Amino acid sequence: MPWGMRFHWNSLHIEGKDSVISRTVRAVCALCWLGCAIAAHAAEVPTIAKSAAGGELLVHGKPYLILGGELGNSAAGTAAQADSILPRLARMHLNTVLMPVAWEQVEPVEGSFDFSILDHWIEVARKEHLHLVLLWFGSWKNSVSSYAPAWVKTDIRRFPRAVSAEGTDLEILSTLGAETQRCDSRAFAALMKHVREEDQDQQTVLMVQVENEVGYLGRGRDRSAAADRLFQKPVPTDLIQKLQADRDSFSPELRAHFDATGHTWQEVFGDAADEVFMAWNYARYIQAVAAAGKQVYGLPMYVNCQLPAPGERAGEYPSGGPDPYYLEVYRVTASSLDFYSPDIYWPNFEYWIDRYRFKENAVFVPEARMESAPYNALYAYGESKAFGFSPFAVESQSNGTGQGPEIKDVYAVLDSMSDMLLTAQAANRSRGLVLHSNSPRATQTVSLGGYLFEAALSRSWPAKALLADDGAMLIVNSGADEFYIAGSGLTVSFYRDPDVDRRQSGIASIEEVEVVDGKWTTIRRLNGDQSNQGRLLSMAPHEIRVFRVHLYAIDRTTREP
Ligand code: DGJ
Repeated sequence: MPWGMRFHWNSLHIEGKDSVISRTVRAVCALCWLGCAIAAHAAEVPTIAKSAAGGELLVHGKPYLILGGELGNSAAGTAAQADSILPRLARMHLNTVLMPVAWEQVEPVEGSFDFSILDHWIEVARKEHLHLVLLWFGSWKNSVSSYAPAWVKTDIRRFPRAVSAEGTDLEILSTLGAETQRCDSRAFAALMKHVREEDQDQQTVLMVQVENEVGYLGRGRDRSAAADRLFQKPVPTDLIQKLQADRDSFSPELRAHFDATGHTWQEVFGDAADEVFMAWNYARYIQAVAAAGKQVYGLPMYVNCQLPAPGERAGEYPSGGPDPYYLEVYRVTASSLDFYSPDIYWPNFEYWIDRYRFKENAVFVPEARMESAPYNALYAYGESKAFGFSPFAVESQSNGTGQGPEIKDVYAVLDSMSDMLLTAQAANRSRGLVLHSNSPRATQTVSLGGYLFEAALSRSWPAKALLADDGAMLIVNSGADEFYIAGSGLTVSFYRDPDVDRRQSGIASIEEVEVVDGKWTTIRRLNGDQSNQGRLLSMAPHEIRVFRVHLYAIDRTTREP
């Protein structure tokens, strides 16, 4: 019994031996036990536990840290690719792989489903002790509908397209195609049914992304006749009321564009009307697809967002996608989605991830740029309390450039810290920061556990030349005055936080530590030249190490006048 409960028929001894009553009581007990067992089992399906501060992923009832990587779009199209890719990713210390599942592949002929490729991926993932997150490339992938089956693409009457401002049918399925929504939902439900049947005991599959980076590309909005008709109608009262009730959670963009007294889309949302109209339509469609799947197997579900590039207008970036500007429209419309995720390729990683740190949103980055991933991962887990991070096209990572740290090094360290990190995240006792040679400020400071940690990129001595262009660290406050710091390329000075008290502080000890035979073990004690005579922690570039730092704070002596 996977949930650790056993039922013995004979252990239910009832006076009167096998009387009808005793048999009935025993049968009822057995049924109750079965009910409890099923309930316990159901409760163990991976789930997102939401909190005011965000949320976490529970797997088998326990918090789980996804050390992830997303496959390139054409890496999971055959079964054989699993054999070559997954063992390599397991050696890179990933514990979870995000893989596309294409509608065109699982339903090449309408109504006939083939999950054989996915089954092989699940089988190999299990052998490699990896989890999977499935990316449903259904009606839309990067706005466009290239992953819809040919029987959908070629039947434009049954599966209508969005129409451009010039009146052209686009390669984008309309959000208002009732048949499209029905068929996408049916295929998605078939996928979830298959995953439940194959996997609900082992739970190799942890979560599912519904569609991929949706949104309308082009000026304005979908100009199909159906969209025009809907746009001419007033904004549904229900939408206005739900938004109004959630005003406290508004983004600055929505706050600046919402007038609950209006009726038309333009009156209510001003010059954001087209974008909000598209967001509402994508959210309604995705809600239908997600709900159909969730009804069958209730894994956590989410959507990912292509973020606006600096200066881009809606329609240049996918208009109506789950970007942080009008995400509230999704939150009040798509109740089957558990959280919202940014795909972060832009340099200002910290800004974008933190726009997804809103009430009850569990932070997960399904796609990120590989080159900066080793640094941004530390920020994501330490500062943004992410439960998962996942650079894109992870299978194409070569075997080491010598210019580390690489994501595999960072994941090896995070794997060893994952228990303490998960505890610290939940208790708000973790921080993180990232610095680049072109960062607007040369130093950054975070406060944790009564101390300030001031970091700068490491420099040579005495020439003071930068040793590397990037550095980052993650700090866990593991006990009174005790900190585990994982990082690379930074020099860190410590101060007592004057907002806590005015005591005098210093470094008690710095040890480089590693987990050996399941226990944190001191590899080196750092002092003298290695801590600039007890003044700071210096983390070499091109590698990642863990340091246990003990600080002290003592009362200042009062000087006699
Ligand atoms: C974001 C998409 O979600 C991915 O599938 C992939 O196309 C990348 N962009 C390309 O870099």
